[in-house]
Amino acid sequence: MDLTSNTRPADMERITTPGLADAFIAEAVEAVRAQVGDGKVLLALSGGVDSSVVAALLIKAIGRQVVNVHVNHGLMRKGESEQVVEVFEKGMDANLVYVDASDRFLALLEGVAEPEAKRKIIGGEFVAVFAEEAARLEGISFLAQGTIYPDILESADGVKAHHNVGGLPEDMDFELVEPVKLLYKDEVRVVGRQLGLPASMVDRQPFPGPGLGVRCLGAITRERLEALREADAIVREEIEAAGLNIWQYFCVVPDVRATGVREGRRAFDWPVIIRCVNTVDAMTAEVPELDWPLMKRLTARILAEVPGVCRVAYDLTPKPVGTIEWE
Ligand code: XMP
Repeated sequence: MDLTSNTRPADMERITTPGLADAFIAEAVEAVRAQVGDGKVLLALSGGVDSSVVAALLIKAIGRQVVNVHVNHGLMRKGESEQVVEVFEKGMDANLVYVDASDRFLALLEGVAEPEAKRKIIGGEFVAVFAEEAARLEGISFLAQGTIYPDILESADGVKAHHNVGGLPEDMDFELVEPVKLLYKDEVRVVGRQLGLPASMVDRQPFPGPGLGVRCLGAITRERLEALREADAIVREEIEAAGLNIWQYFCVVPDVRATGVREGRRAFDWPVIIRCVNTVDAMTAEVPELDWPLMKRLTARILAEVPGVCRVAYDLTPKPVGTIEWE
């Protein structure tokens, strides 16, 4: 396997079965060992599908020579950072650096209501935290990335800049290790399963880089973020338990309050808006019809279990006109 090529060979078979995944893994392990030798590799492990599969592959190839840095920006979904620690540190004996930067991110975001400003702060701070951690580590000469084939095709087409860790400072001069860059997303999932990653990680729905930060609308507060995280966990749990095949499903919590009545007293609490979409490429999206008993169950659980919430709504807006995310 040629890890330097950006072109998928015309005769490369689509990886659809465990057997084909095993063959790919064996080749990729050899190629990574040949590239890296006894060098050290740095990987930003977000817990998303691509970085998780690259981490598992590199751990198989070079064990603790790969330093996996997981930055918890405080905007992860419930249980997500814990799962990264559980799967990689405990399950695979990974060399994992877990950075809880929640307070830093939330302090910077305090009072910032404008969506693009929020995104810039989150992206910029992520790079800053990652660079700080990288500077602390010694002897790193490689940077691994979860680049996949659509990223390469899109950057060649000029559709979007090739995404990497988010633009590390120029003075960080690492050689790239991108072992899944010739694979499509479905192939990455098959390989991930074969590497022993849990289904909840490999089949994970898309999740924006700025995380819950763009779903806790307006200026983020810890209380509203916590309400969002709890409501989101309930929606994920119920939709997964119902066995529904929905492309993306989550909640948003706007920065408004609504009047309610709880135990005979006036309440003045937040609404939770449930957002579900089906799409092929995220350019257009349809809203699936949820079955009424499920809607009622989601509503009852959110109202009973999430403090500070007194109303539940379902977003019926297709894309266009609405985007999938609210911010
Ligand atoms: P929109 O809201 O533009 O979202 O309709 C389309 C898809 O992209 C995801 N999304 C992001 N993914 N970083 C990401 O990796 C981001 O900043 C980001 N913003 C939106 C969104 O969840 C949806 O799947």
